[in-house]
Amino acid sequence: MVDQPHRRRASWLPATLSDRPGRTLRQQLREAMKGAIRAGHLPAGATVPSSRALAEDLGVSRGVVVDAYAQLTAEGFLTTRAGSGTVVSQVALPVARPTPATVAPAFAEGPSYSIDLRPGLPDLGAFPRAAWMAATRDVLRSLPDEELGYVAPWGAMALRKELADYLTRVRAAMVEADHLVIVSGATQALTLLVRMLAKSGHEVLAIESPSNVVQRQVLGRHISRIVEIPVDDEGIDVSKLESTVASAVLITPAHQYPSGVVLSPARRSALIRWAEGVNGVVIEDDYDSEFRYDRRPVGCLQGLDPQHVALVGSVSKSLAPGLRLGWVVAPLPLYERVRTAKRDDDFGSPVLSQHVLARLMTNGGYDRHIRRTRRRYMDRRDALVTALGQQLPDWEVRGRAGGLHVMLRLPSGLDEESVCAAAAARGLAVQGTRAMYGALPGPDGLFISYARAPTGVLTEAVQRLAAARSSIGTGEGNGSGVAVQSLRPATALDYF
Ligand SMILES: Cc1ncc(COP(=O)(O)O)c(C=O)c1O
Repeated sequence: MVDQPHRRRASWLPATLSDRPGRTLRQQLREAMKGAIRAGHLPAGATVPSSRALAEDLGVSRGVVVDAYAQLTAEGFLTTRAGSGTVVSQVALPVARPTPATVAPAFAEGPSYSIDLRPGLPDLGAFPRAAWMAATRDVLRSLPDEELGYVAPWGAMALRKELADYLTRVRAAMVEADHLVIVSGATQALTLLVRMLAKSGHEVLAIESPSNVVQRQVLGRHISRIVEIPVDDEGIDVSKLESTVASAVLITPAHQYPSGVVLSPARRSALIRWAEGVNGVVIEDDYDSEFRYDRRPVGCLQGLDPQHVALVGSVSKSLAPGLRLGWVVAPLPLYERVRTAKRDDDFGSPVLSQHVLARLMTNGGYDRHIRRTRRRYMDRRDALVTALGQQLPDWEVRGRAGGLHVMLRLPSGLDEESVCAAAAARGLAVQGTRAMYGALPGPDGLFISYARAPTGVLTEAVQRLAAARSSIGTGEGNGSGVAVQSLRPATALDYF
Protein backbone atom coordinates (compact mmCIF):
# COMPACT_ATOMS: atom_id res chain seq x y z
CA MET A 1 0.00 0.00 0.00
CA VAL A 2 1.42 3.42 -0.88
CA ASP A 3 -0.24 6.18 1.11
CA GLN A 4 2.87 8.26 1.36
CA PRO A 5 5.58 8.77 -1.14
CA HIS A 6 7.48 5.63 -0.30
CA ARG A 7 10.46 5.15 1.94
CA ARG A 8 10.62 1.39 1.96
CA ARG A 9 10.26 -0.58 -1.26
CA ALA A 10 6.53 -1.22 -1.73
CA SER A 11 5.56 -4.89 -1.76
CA TRP A 12 3.60 -4.52 -5.00
CA LEU A 13 6.68 -3.47 -6.94
CA PRO A 14 8.20 -6.07 -9.21
CA ALA A 15 11.44 -7.47 -7.80
CA THR A 16 13.26 -6.53 -10.98
CA LEU A 17 12.46 -4.94 -14.28
CA SER A 18 14.56 -6.15 -17.12
CA ASP A 19 14.65 -5.36 -20.80
CA ARG A 20 13.25 -8.48 -22.37
CA PRO A 21 12.50 -8.88 -26.05
CA GLY A 22 8.85 -8.12 -26.71
CA ARG A 23 8.24 -6.62 -23.23
CA THR A 24 9.59 -3.22 -22.53
CA LEU A 25 10.30 -1.80 -19.07
CA ARG A 26 7.31 0.47 -19.50
CA GLN A 27 5.01 -2.48 -20.20
CA GLN A 28 6.36 -4.45 -17.25
CA LEU A 29 5.84 -1.56 -14.87
CA ARG A 30 2.37 -0.88 -16.22
CA GLU A 31 1.32 -4.48 -15.82
CA ALA A 32 2.76 -4.72 -12.32
CA MET A 33 0.82 -1.62 -11.26
CA LYS A 34 -2.40 -2.79 -12.88
CA GLY A 35 -2.02 -6.13 -11.15
CA ALA A 36 -1.46 -4.37 -7.79
CA ILE A 37 -4.52 -2.14 -8.31
CA ARG A 38 -6.74 -5.07 -9.32
CA ALA A 39 -5.53 -7.16 -6.41
CA GLY A 40 -6.28 -4.32 -4.00
CA HIS A 41 -2.61 -3.83 -2.98
CA LEU A 42 -2.92 -0.30 -4.33
CA PRO A 43 -6.38 0.76 -3.11
CA ALA A 44 -8.47 3.53 -4.60
CA GLY A 45 -7.31 6.94 -3.37
CA ALA A 46 -3.77 5.80 -2.53
CA THR A 47 -1.09 8.22 -3.70
CA VAL A 48 1.52 6.58 -5.87
CA PRO A 49 5.22 7.50 -5.49
CA SER A 50 6.52 10.40 -7.47
CA SER A 51 7.96 9.40 -10.81
CA ARG A 52 11.41 10.45 -9.68
CA ALA A 53 11.29 8.39 -6.47
CA LEU A 54 9.94 5.31 -8.21
CA ALA A 55 12.48 5.55 -11.01
CA GLU A 56 15.27 5.68 -8.45
CA ASP A 57 13.84 2.80 -6.52
CA LEU A 58 13.57 0.66 -9.64
CA GLY A 59 16.82 1.77 -11.15
CA VAL A 60 15.21 2.90 -14.36
CA SER A 61 15.07 6.22 -16.12
CA ARG A 62 12.37 8.62 -14.98
CA GLY A 63 10.86 8.63 -18.48
CA VAL A 64 9.90 4.96 -18.05
CA VAL A 65 7.80 5.76 -15.00
CA VAL A 66 6.36 8.94 -16.50
CA ASP A 67 5.23 6.98 -19.57
CA ALA A 68 3.79 4.16 -17.48
CA TYR A 69 1.84 6.64 -15.31
CA ALA A 70 0.60 8.50 -18.39
CA GLN A 71 -0.68 5.27 -19.93
CA LEU A 72 -2.31 4.13 -16.69
CA THR A 73 -3.94 7.55 -16.38
CA ALA A 74 -5.24 7.33 -19.95
CA GLU A 75 -6.68 3.88 -19.22
CA GLY A 76 -8.39 5.17 -16.09
CA PHE A 77 -6.31 3.32 -13.46
CA LEU A 78 -4.68 6.48 -12.12
CA THR A 79 -5.96 10.02 -11.66
CA THR A 80 -3.97 13.19 -11.31
CA ARG A 81 -5.33 15.46 -8.59
CA ALA A 82 -4.18 19.00 -8.20
CA GLY A 83 -2.34 19.25 -4.92
CA SER A 84 -2.20 15.58 -4.08
CA GLY A 85 -0.28 14.16 -6.98
CA THR A 86 -1.22 10.97 -8.75
CA VAL A 87 -3.67 8.69 -7.00
CA VAL A 88 -5.23 5.31 -7.72
CA SER A 89 -8.70 5.57 -9.29
CA GLN A 90 -11.77 3.65 -8.30
CA VAL A 91 -11.68 0.57 -10.53
CA ALA A 92 -13.92 -2.46 -10.56
CA LEU A 93 -12.23 -5.46 -9.03
CA PRO A 94 -12.02 -8.41 -11.36
CA VAL A 95 -14.93 -10.83 -11.36
CA ALA A 96 -14.07 -13.90 -9.31
CA ARG A 97 -12.80 -16.69 -11.49
CA PRO A 98 -14.92 -19.83 -11.33
CA THR A 99 -13.34 -22.31 -9.01
CA PRO A 100 -12.62 -25.69 -10.56
CA ALA A 101 -15.66 -27.16 -8.81
CA THR A 102 -18.05 -24.79 -10.62
CA VAL A 103 -16.62 -25.46 -14.07
CA ALA A 104 -18.55 -28.10 -15.95
CA PRO A 105 -16.38 -31.15 -16.43
CA ALA A 106 -15.00 -31.66 -19.92
CA PHE A 107 -16.42 -34.37 -22.16
CA ALA A 108 -13.36 -36.55 -21.79
CA GLU A 109 -13.17 -36.22 -18.02
CA GLY A 110 -13.36 -39.32 -15.88
CA PRO A 111 -11.92 -42.69 -16.66
CA SER A 112 -10.09 -42.89 -19.94
CA TYR A 113 -11.58 -45.16 -22.55
CA SER A 114 -9.95 -46.80 -25.51
CA ILE A 115 -13.39 -47.16 -27.10
CA ASP A 116 -16.07 -44.52 -26.61
CA LEU A 117 -19.52 -45.40 -27.93
CA ARG A 118 -21.41 -42.70 -26.07
CA PRO A 119 -23.79 -40.95 -28.42
CA GLY A 120 -23.68 -37.32 -29.45
CA LEU A 121 -21.41 -36.88 -32.41
CA PRO A 122 -21.38 -37.94 -36.03
CA ASP A 123 -18.11 -39.19 -37.50
CA LEU A 124 -16.23 -35.90 -37.47
CA GLY A 125 -13.44 -37.49 -39.49
CA ALA A 126 -15.93 -37.75 -42.36
CA PHE A 127 -16.48 -33.99 -42.51
CA PRO A 128 -16.14 -33.05 -46.20
CA ARG A 129 -13.15 -30.76 -45.71
CA ALA A 130 -12.11 -30.59 -49.34
CA ALA A 131 -15.62 -29.81 -50.57
CA TRP A 132 -16.14 -27.28 -47.77
CA MET A 133 -12.84 -25.60 -48.62
CA ALA A 134 -13.66 -25.43 -52.33
CA ALA A 135 -17.10 -24.00 -51.57
CA THR A 136 -15.57 -21.48 -49.16
CA ARG A 137 -13.17 -20.32 -51.87
CA ASP A 138 -16.05 -19.98 -54.32
CA VAL A 139 -18.11 -17.99 -51.85
CA LEU A 140 -15.28 -15.65 -50.95
CA ARG A 141 -14.57 -15.03 -54.60
CA SER A 142 -18.12 -14.15 -55.51
CA LEU A 143 -19.95 -12.91 -52.40
CA PRO A 144 -20.91 -9.23 -52.75
CA ASP A 145 -19.51 -7.07 -49.95
CA GLU A 146 -23.02 -6.08 -48.85
CA GLU A 147 -23.70 -9.68 -47.84
CA LEU A 148 -21.14 -9.27 -45.05
CA GLY A 149 -23.24 -6.62 -43.35
CA TYR A 150 -26.27 -7.00 -41.06
CA VAL A 151 -28.32 -8.28 -43.94
CA ALA A 152 -29.55 -11.57 -42.70
CA PRO A 153 -31.06 -11.68 -39.22
CA TRP A 154 -33.24 -14.57 -40.38
CA GLY A 155 -30.55 -16.21 -42.48
CA ALA A 156 -28.83 -15.63 -45.82
CA MET A 157 -31.39 -15.81 -48.61
CA ALA A 158 -29.10 -18.11 -50.63
CA LEU A 159 -29.27 -20.74 -47.89
CA ARG A 160 -32.95 -20.27 -47.19
CA LYS A 161 -33.70 -20.91 -50.87
CA GLU A 162 -31.55 -24.03 -51.02
CA LEU A 163 -32.95 -25.35 -47.77
CA ALA A 164 -36.53 -24.71 -48.82
CA ASP A 165 -35.90 -26.80 -51.97
CA TYR A 166 -34.08 -29.47 -50.00
CA LEU A 167 -36.73 -29.81 -47.30
CA THR A 168 -39.48 -29.92 -49.92
CA ARG A 169 -37.65 -32.52 -52.00
CA VAL A 170 -36.20 -34.74 -49.28
CA ARG A 171 -38.55 -34.27 -46.33
CA ALA A 172 -41.81 -33.50 -48.15
CA ALA A 173 -42.07 -30.30 -46.12
CA MET A 174 -44.31 -27.36 -47.07
CA VAL A 175 -41.89 -24.49 -46.94
CA GLU A 176 -40.82 -21.41 -48.80
CA ALA A 177 -37.57 -19.55 -48.43
CA ASP A 178 -39.35 -16.54 -46.92
CA HIS A 179 -40.71 -18.74 -44.26
CA LEU A 180 -37.47 -20.21 -42.93
CA VAL A 181 -35.35 -18.87 -40.11
CA ILE A 182 -31.71 -19.94 -39.92
CA VAL A 183 -30.61 -20.44 -36.34
CA SER A 184 -27.68 -21.62 -34.30
CA GLY A 185 -28.49 -25.33 -34.25
CA ALA A 186 -31.70 -27.11 -33.38
CA THR A 187 -31.15 -26.05 -29.79
CA GLN A 188 -31.68 -22.38 -30.60
CA ALA A 189 -34.71 -23.26 -32.71
CA LEU A 190 -36.25 -25.12 -29.79
CA THR A 191 -35.51 -22.48 -27.19
CA LEU A 192 -36.89 -19.73 -29.45
CA LEU A 193 -40.04 -21.71 -30.16
CA VAL A 194 -40.66 -22.62 -26.54
CA ARG A 195 -39.97 -19.08 -25.35
CA MET A 196 -42.42 -17.68 -27.88
CA LEU A 197 -45.02 -20.31 -27.04
CA ALA A 198 -44.72 -19.50 -23.36
CA LYS A 199 -45.11 -15.82 -24.15
CA SER A 200 -48.26 -16.45 -26.10
CA GLY A 201 -49.96 -18.32 -23.30
CA HIS A 202 -48.87 -21.95 -23.59
CA GLU A 203 -48.00 -22.95 -20.06
CA VAL A 204 -47.26 -26.62 -20.48
CA LEU A 205 -44.96 -28.36 -22.94
CA ALA A 206 -45.38 -32.09 -23.46
CA ILE A 207 -42.29 -34.09 -24.36
CA GLU A 208 -41.59 -37.72 -25.09
CA SER A 209 -40.39 -40.20 -22.50
CA PRO A 210 -37.70 -41.27 -23.17
CA SER A 211 -36.13 -38.15 -24.61
CA ASN A 212 -33.02 -36.00 -24.61
CA VAL A 213 -32.19 -35.16 -20.99
CA VAL A 214 -30.38 -31.91 -21.72
CA GLN A 215 -33.13 -30.61 -23.99
CA ARG A 216 -35.61 -31.27 -21.20
CA GLN A 217 -33.50 -29.26 -18.76
CA VAL A 218 -32.87 -26.41 -21.18
CA LEU A 219 -36.47 -26.09 -22.33
CA GLY A 220 -37.73 -26.35 -18.76
CA ARG A 221 -36.17 -22.94 -18.15
CA HIS A 222 -38.44 -21.34 -20.73
CA ILE A 223 -41.89 -22.68 -19.86
CA SER A 224 -43.79 -23.15 -16.62
CA ARG A 225 -44.18 -26.91 -16.81
CA ILE A 226 -43.09 -29.94 -18.76
CA VAL A 227 -45.11 -33.17 -18.84
CA GLU A 228 -43.76 -36.46 -20.09
CA ILE A 229 -45.75 -38.68 -22.41
CA PRO A 230 -44.73 -42.31 -22.84
CA VAL A 231 -43.53 -43.64 -26.17
CA ASP A 232 -44.42 -47.15 -27.32
CA ASP A 233 -43.72 -49.09 -30.50
CA GLU A 234 -45.80 -46.64 -32.54
CA GLY A 235 -44.22 -43.51 -31.10
CA ILE A 236 -45.71 -41.00 -28.68
CA ASP A 237 -48.94 -42.19 -27.04
CA VAL A 238 -51.35 -39.52 -28.27
CA SER A 239 -54.20 -40.73 -26.03
CA LYS A 240 -52.04 -39.90 -23.00
CA LEU A 241 -51.22 -36.51 -24.49
CA GLU A 242 -54.95 -35.84 -24.86
CA SER A 243 -55.46 -36.33 -21.15
CA THR A 244 -53.05 -33.50 -20.27
CA VAL A 245 -53.59 -29.74 -20.35
CA ALA A 246 -50.63 -29.28 -22.70
CA SER A 247 -51.21 -27.43 -25.94
CA ALA A 248 -47.66 -27.79 -27.25
CA VAL A 249 -45.65 -30.94 -27.74
CA LEU A 250 -42.07 -31.66 -28.78
CA ILE A 251 -41.58 -34.88 -30.70
CA THR A 252 -39.01 -36.70 -32.86
CA PRO A 253 -41.31 -38.51 -35.31
CA ALA A 254 -38.79 -39.61 -37.97
CA HIS A 255 -36.58 -41.43 -35.48
CA GLN A 256 -37.71 -41.12 -31.91
CA TYR A 257 -34.87 -40.00 -29.69
CA PRO A 258 -33.53 -42.24 -28.29
CA SER A 259 -35.69 -45.35 -28.93
CA GLY A 260 -35.53 -45.06 -32.73
CA VAL A 261 -39.28 -45.73 -33.22
CA VAL A 262 -40.90 -44.13 -36.29
CA LEU A 263 -44.22 -42.44 -35.52
CA SER A 264 -46.94 -44.66 -37.04
CA PRO A 265 -49.44 -43.34 -39.62
CA ALA A 266 -52.31 -43.72 -37.13
CA ARG A 267 -50.46 -41.71 -34.51
CA ARG A 268 -49.56 -39.05 -37.06
CA SER A 269 -53.23 -38.52 -37.84
CA ALA A 270 -54.15 -38.59 -34.16
CA LEU A 271 -51.51 -36.00 -33.36
CA ILE A 272 -52.71 -33.67 -36.09
CA ARG A 273 -56.31 -34.05 -34.86
CA TRP A 274 -55.14 -33.27 -31.33
CA ALA A 275 -53.29 -30.14 -32.50
CA GLU A 276 -56.34 -28.91 -34.42
CA GLY A 277 -58.62 -29.67 -31.48
CA VAL A 278 -56.63 -27.74 -28.89
CA ASN A 279 -55.33 -25.19 -31.37
CA GLY A 280 -51.94 -26.39 -30.32
CA VAL A 281 -48.44 -26.60 -31.75
CA VAL A 282 -46.41 -29.68 -32.54
CA ILE A 283 -42.66 -29.10 -32.60
CA GLU A 284 -41.06 -31.64 -34.91
CA ASP A 285 -37.38 -32.17 -34.14
CA ASP A 286 -36.09 -33.75 -37.34
CA TYR A 287 -32.58 -34.18 -35.99
CA ASP A 288 -31.18 -37.15 -37.93
CA SER A 289 -33.68 -38.07 -40.64
CA GLU A 290 -30.95 -38.14 -43.33
CA PHE A 291 -29.88 -41.52 -42.03
CA ARG A 292 -32.40 -44.25 -42.87
CA TYR A 293 -30.97 -47.57 -43.95
CA ASP A 294 -33.56 -50.20 -44.65
CA ARG A 295 -36.43 -48.30 -46.18
CA ARG A 296 -37.26 -44.91 -47.54
CA PRO A 297 -37.58 -42.16 -44.96
CA VAL A 298 -41.07 -41.14 -43.97
CA GLY A 299 -41.89 -37.54 -44.91
CA CYS A 300 -42.03 -34.99 -42.15
CA LEU A 301 -45.17 -34.24 -40.17
CA GLN A 302 -44.99 -30.55 -41.03
CA GLY A 303 -45.86 -31.41 -44.64
CA LEU A 304 -49.18 -32.80 -43.38
CA ASP A 305 -50.18 -29.77 -41.38
CA PRO A 306 -48.02 -26.65 -41.67
CA GLN A 307 -50.64 -24.70 -39.70
CA HIS A 308 -49.89 -26.61 -36.52
CA VAL A 309 -46.43 -28.11 -36.92
CA ALA A 310 -43.09 -26.33 -36.54
CA LEU A 311 -40.24 -28.15 -38.27
CA VAL A 312 -36.76 -27.97 -36.74
CA GLY A 313 -33.53 -29.34 -38.16
CA SER A 314 -29.77 -28.83 -38.19
CA VAL A 315 -26.55 -30.06 -39.74
CA SER A 316 -25.27 -31.32 -36.39
CA LYS A 317 -25.63 -34.96 -37.43
CA SER A 318 -25.23 -34.61 -41.18
CA LEU A 319 -22.06 -32.46 -41.09
CA ALA A 320 -20.81 -31.37 -37.68
CA PRO A 321 -22.39 -29.83 -34.57
CA GLY A 322 -19.58 -27.29 -34.34
CA LEU A 323 -21.02 -25.48 -37.36
CA ARG A 324 -24.00 -24.50 -35.19
CA LEU A 325 -26.29 -24.26 -38.19
CA GLY A 326 -29.94 -25.13 -37.97
CA TRP A 327 -33.34 -24.00 -39.20
CA VAL A 328 -36.92 -23.64 -38.18
CA VAL A 329 -40.15 -23.40 -40.15
CA ALA A 330 -43.01 -22.39 -37.89
CA PRO A 331 -46.72 -21.80 -38.41
CA LEU A 332 -47.76 -18.18 -38.64
CA PRO A 333 -47.95 -16.19 -36.35
CA LEU A 334 -45.40 -18.14 -34.33
CA TYR A 335 -43.03 -17.69 -37.25
CA GLU A 336 -43.25 -13.90 -36.96
CA ARG A 337 -42.45 -14.04 -33.27
CA VAL A 338 -39.58 -16.47 -33.71
CA ARG A 339 -37.89 -14.46 -36.41
CA THR A 340 -38.22 -11.23 -34.47
CA ALA A 341 -36.75 -12.91 -31.40
CA LYS A 342 -33.89 -14.33 -33.45
CA ARG A 343 -33.12 -10.87 -34.81
CA ASP A 344 -33.29 -9.25 -31.40
CA ASP A 345 -31.21 -11.97 -29.71
CA ASP A 346 -28.18 -11.92 -31.98
CA PHE A 347 -28.83 -10.11 -35.30
CA GLY A 348 -28.52 -13.43 -37.11
CA SER A 349 -26.18 -16.38 -37.34
CA PRO A 350 -22.70 -16.11 -38.90
CA VAL A 351 -23.22 -15.54 -42.57
CA LEU A 352 -20.18 -17.04 -44.30
CA SER A 353 -20.86 -20.62 -43.27
CA GLN A 354 -24.47 -20.18 -44.40
CA HIS A 355 -23.28 -19.27 -47.88
CA VAL A 356 -20.83 -22.16 -47.91
CA LEU A 357 -23.56 -24.61 -46.98
CA ALA A 358 -25.81 -23.11 -49.64
CA ARG A 359 -23.02 -23.60 -52.20
CA LEU A 360 -22.57 -27.25 -51.14
CA MET A 361 -26.29 -27.76 -51.58
CA THR A 362 -26.30 -26.19 -55.05
CA ASN A 363 -23.31 -28.07 -56.36
CA GLY A 364 -24.44 -31.47 -55.10
CA GLY A 365 -21.66 -31.74 -52.50
CA TYR A 366 -24.12 -31.98 -49.60
CA ASP A 367 -26.12 -34.81 -51.17
CA ARG A 368 -22.90 -36.66 -52.04
CA HIS A 369 -21.68 -36.33 -48.48
CA ILE A 370 -24.95 -37.67 -47.11
CA ARG A 371 -24.87 -40.65 -49.49
CA ARG A 372 -21.28 -41.47 -48.55
CA THR A 373 -21.77 -41.17 -44.80
CA ARG A 374 -25.05 -43.08 -44.98
CA ARG A 375 -23.20 -46.08 -46.49
CA ARG A 376 -20.48 -45.78 -43.87
CA TYR A 377 -22.94 -45.64 -40.99
CA MET A 378 -24.96 -48.52 -42.40
CA ASP A 379 -21.84 -50.74 -42.50
CA ARG A 380 -21.08 -49.78 -38.92
CA ARG A 381 -24.64 -50.40 -37.81
CA ASP A 382 -24.56 -53.84 -39.47
CA ALA A 383 -21.27 -54.75 -37.80
CA LEU A 384 -22.58 -53.72 -34.39
CA VAL A 385 -25.95 -55.44 -34.71
CA THR A 386 -24.38 -58.65 -36.06
CA ALA A 387 -21.83 -58.81 -33.24
CA LEU A 388 -24.54 -58.15 -30.65
CA GLY A 389 -26.70 -60.90 -32.14
CA GLN A 390 -23.80 -63.34 -31.89
CA GLN A 391 -22.42 -62.42 -28.49
CA LEU A 392 -25.37 -61.04 -26.57
CA PRO A 393 -28.45 -62.51 -28.24
CA ASP A 394 -30.72 -61.82 -25.28
CA TRP A 395 -30.01 -58.06 -25.38
CA GLU A 396 -32.83 -56.57 -27.42
CA VAL A 397 -31.64 -54.12 -30.09
CA ARG A 398 -34.06 -51.26 -30.81
CA GLY A 399 -34.05 -48.45 -33.33
CA ARG A 400 -31.69 -50.03 -35.81
CA ALA A 401 -33.45 -48.75 -38.93
CA GLY A 402 -31.94 -45.29 -38.88
CA GLY A 403 -29.89 -42.66 -37.11
CA LEU A 404 -26.47 -43.02 -35.58
CA HIS A 405 -27.23 -45.10 -32.51
CA VAL A 406 -29.15 -48.08 -31.19
CA MET A 407 -30.84 -48.58 -27.87
CA LEU A 408 -30.35 -51.90 -26.09
CA ARG A 409 -32.81 -53.39 -23.60
CA LEU A 410 -30.98 -55.41 -21.01
CA PRO A 411 -32.40 -58.75 -19.95
CA SER A 412 -34.12 -58.70 -16.58
CA GLY A 413 -31.81 -58.97 -13.64
CA LEU A 414 -29.09 -56.93 -15.30
CA ASP A 415 -28.85 -53.29 -14.27
CA GLU A 416 -27.35 -50.63 -16.49
CA GLU A 417 -25.04 -49.15 -13.85
CA SER A 418 -23.30 -52.51 -13.36
CA VAL A 419 -22.95 -53.02 -17.09
CA CYS A 420 -21.59 -49.49 -17.67
CA ALA A 421 -19.11 -49.88 -14.82
CA ALA A 422 -17.94 -53.33 -15.95
CA ALA A 423 -17.59 -52.01 -19.51
CA ALA A 424 -15.61 -49.02 -18.23
CA ALA A 425 -13.28 -51.39 -16.44
CA ARG A 426 -12.52 -52.77 -19.89
CA GLY A 427 -11.91 -49.35 -21.40
CA LEU A 428 -15.32 -49.13 -23.07
CA ALA A 429 -17.65 -46.16 -22.56
CA VAL A 430 -21.37 -46.76 -23.01
CA GLN A 431 -24.32 -44.87 -21.57
CA GLY A 432 -27.35 -46.07 -19.63
CA THR A 433 -30.85 -45.04 -20.68
CA ARG A 434 -32.98 -44.88 -17.52
CA ALA A 435 -32.35 -41.17 -16.94
CA MET A 436 -33.88 -40.44 -20.33
CA TYR A 437 -37.32 -41.52 -19.12
CA GLY A 438 -37.48 -38.59 -16.71
CA ALA A 439 -40.16 -38.98 -14.09
CA LEU A 440 -41.61 -42.10 -15.73
CA PRO A 441 -40.14 -45.50 -14.95
CA GLY A 442 -37.76 -46.75 -17.62
CA PRO A 443 -36.21 -50.13 -18.25
CA ASP A 444 -32.48 -50.74 -17.88
CA GLY A 445 -30.77 -50.25 -21.16
CA LEU A 446 -27.79 -48.94 -23.04
CA PHE A 447 -27.56 -46.21 -25.60
CA ILE A 448 -24.79 -46.95 -28.08
CA SER A 449 -23.54 -44.90 -30.99
CA TYR A 450 -21.86 -46.62 -33.90
CA ALA A 451 -21.15 -43.40 -35.78
CA ARG A 452 -17.56 -42.84 -34.75
CA ALA A 453 -16.15 -46.36 -34.55
CA PRO A 454 -14.91 -48.40 -37.53
CA THR A 455 -16.43 -51.86 -37.87
CA GLY A 456 -13.46 -53.70 -36.29
CA VAL A 457 -13.65 -51.47 -33.24
CA LEU A 458 -17.37 -52.14 -32.90
CA THR A 459 -16.76 -55.90 -32.95
CA GLU A 460 -14.10 -55.47 -30.27
CA ALA A 461 -16.50 -53.29 -28.26
CA VAL A 462 -19.14 -56.01 -28.28
CA GLN A 463 -16.55 -58.55 -27.11
CA ARG A 464 -15.78 -56.25 -24.20
CA LEU A 465 -19.49 -55.85 -23.46
CA ALA A 466 -19.88 -59.64 -23.43
CA ALA A 467 -16.91 -59.95 -21.08
CA ALA A 468 -18.40 -57.20 -18.92
CA ARG A 469 -21.69 -59.03 -18.76
CA SER A 470 -19.99 -62.32 -17.82
CA SER A 471 -18.14 -60.59 -15.01
CA ILE A 472 -21.33 -59.36 -13.39
CA GLY A 473 -22.67 -61.67 -10.71
CA THR A 474 -19.60 -63.90 -10.84
CA GLY A 475 -18.06 -62.20 -7.83
CA GLU A 476 -15.43 -60.72 -10.14
CA GLY A 477 -17.05 -57.31 -9.65
CA ASN A 478 -16.51 -54.65 -12.21
CA GLY A 479 -12.85 -54.75 -11.36
CA SER A 480 -12.48 -51.12 -12.27
CA GLY A 481 -12.42 -49.31 -8.96
CA VAL A 482 -14.47 -46.77 -10.92
CA ALA A 483 -17.41 -45.28 -9.08
CA VAL A 484 -20.60 -45.81 -11.03
CA GLN A 485 -21.48 -42.18 -10.48
CA SER A 486 -18.53 -41.05 -12.58
CA LEU A 487 -19.91 -42.96 -15.53
CA ARG A 488 -23.12 -41.05 -15.57
CA PRO A 489 -23.46 -38.42 -18.23
CA ALA A 490 -21.89 -35.21 -17.03
CA THR A 491 -22.23 -32.68 -19.79
CA ALA A 492 -24.56 -31.79 -22.58
CA LEU A 493 -22.47 -33.75 -25.02
CA ASP A 494 -22.75 -36.94 -23.05
CA TYR A 495 -26.49 -36.95 -23.42
CA PHE A 496 -26.91 -36.49 -27.13
C1 LIG B 1 -32.92 -35.01 -30.07
C2 LIG B 1 -31.90 -34.06 -30.61
N1 LIG B 1 -32.31 -33.01 -31.34
C3 LIG B 1 -31.41 -32.15 -31.85
C4 LIG B 1 -30.07 -32.31 -31.68
C5 LIG B 1 -29.10 -31.36 -32.34
O1 LIG B 1 -28.93 -30.21 -31.64
P1 LIG B 1 -28.12 -29.02 -32.30
O2 LIG B 1 -28.58 -28.87 -33.70
O3 LIG B 1 -28.41 -27.84 -31.47
O4 LIG B 1 -26.67 -29.41 -32.26
C6 LIG B 1 -29.62 -33.33 -30.88
C7 LIG B 1 -28.19 -33.44 -30.61
O5 LIG B 1 -27.49 -34.23 -31.07
C8 LIG B 1 -30.54 -34.25 -30.35
O6 LIG B 1 -30.16 -35.27 -29.62
